[in-house]
Amino acid sequence: MPRLPESLDAALRAFQESRTLLTAIELDVFTAIGGGARAEEVASRIGTDSRATQMLLNALVALGALNKRDGVYSNTPAAAEHFACAGRLPLMHNVHLWDRWSRLTECVRQGTAVDLVDIEKRGEEWIAAFIAAMQRNSQEGAPAVVEAVDASRVRRMLDVGGGSGAYSIALVQANPHLQAVIFDLEPVLAITRTHIDRAGLATRITTRAGDLRTDAYGEGFDLVFISSICHMLSPAENVKMFHKALAALNPGGRIVMRDFILEDDKTAPRQAALFALNMLVGTREGSSYSRSEYKNWLEQAGFTGVHHVGLPAPASLMIGVKP
Ligand SMILES: C[S@@+](CC[C@H](N)C(=O)[O-])C[C@H]1O[C@@H](n2cnc3c(N)ncnc32)[C@H](O)[C@@H]1O
Repeated sequence: MPRLPESLDAALRAFQESRTLLTAIELDVFTAIGGGARAEEVASRIGTDSRATQMLLNALVALGALNKRDGVYSNTPAAAEHFACAGRLPLMHNVHLWDRWSRLTECVRQGTAVDLVDIEKRGEEWIAAFIAAMQRNSQEGAPAVVEAVDASRVRRMLDVGGGSGAYSIALVQANPHLQAVIFDLEPVLAITRTHIDRAGLATRITTRAGDLRTDAYGEGFDLVFISSICHMLSPAENVKMFHKALAALNPGGRIVMRDFILEDDKTAPRQAALFALNMLVGTREGSSYSRSEYKNWLEQAGFTGVHHVGLPAPASLMIGVKP
């Protein structure tokens, strides 16, 4: 029998590596190691079994997350920076995603997420990790968006489901005349405001609590920015959201939608195709969508000049203009 291709064999076993890292993050192993510690010391600090902790630490060395010398474990520079102390919070979102992904089989049977709980009811710790993860990704992606969007002539922008506010903050910092309104759920906005205050932008960025599915978005904006939102909605909900964005814009104003956008046969880019499953396990009707779907929905809502703008992977933009 021909051998299983290496890439598929590796994918079959990849859960072992993921789970090893996620358990170490969940137990806060990297913080407990600090400047270097023996397995028994780590176990005593995090309240775990000494033998099992040693097995976990050895596997982390094998994965390249830790070093080991004379029985003393230390963080690699990457682990010290990304997994220990404050670096841990955004990664707790991955720990939470594991729980959902382990229900994938049932979700495929049922066609939707099982036992879904509304964001507001997921608890402070879940929301803090979720928004920290969004902040980490969005801070990385923001410079490319600032460059691609050119908001130099925009006076007022609306950031629908703005999360930590990373994109609004970057756009406002780059454009001295720009004012932004970040629209999100109140428990999230409590975190958003800490980021706005830290950036010293409380006079230029305001927040508005509401439900993006059911509430109107206001009016008089030159730009409506919608990042990583469309994937959690159904096609009909996206069309409705684009209609409301159109109503919120001044004539000539733009909608800029940022997301994982699939090619038309929906099998690439790889991360966008896998992200569709992330939405299957985490939302009622969300998915990754294709360029032509977004184009159709934006045009149905009344936007013109709809076009796709590539960004450094993995996400890209769809832009349209209100006539
Ligand atoms: C994946 S995050 C994207 C955050 C941000 N736009 C970014 O790209 O970093 C989705 C955001 O939508 C918000 N959200 C989810 N459901 C919402 C709703 N029904 N009404 C308003 N905001 C919502 C979440 O609180 C979260 O901030």
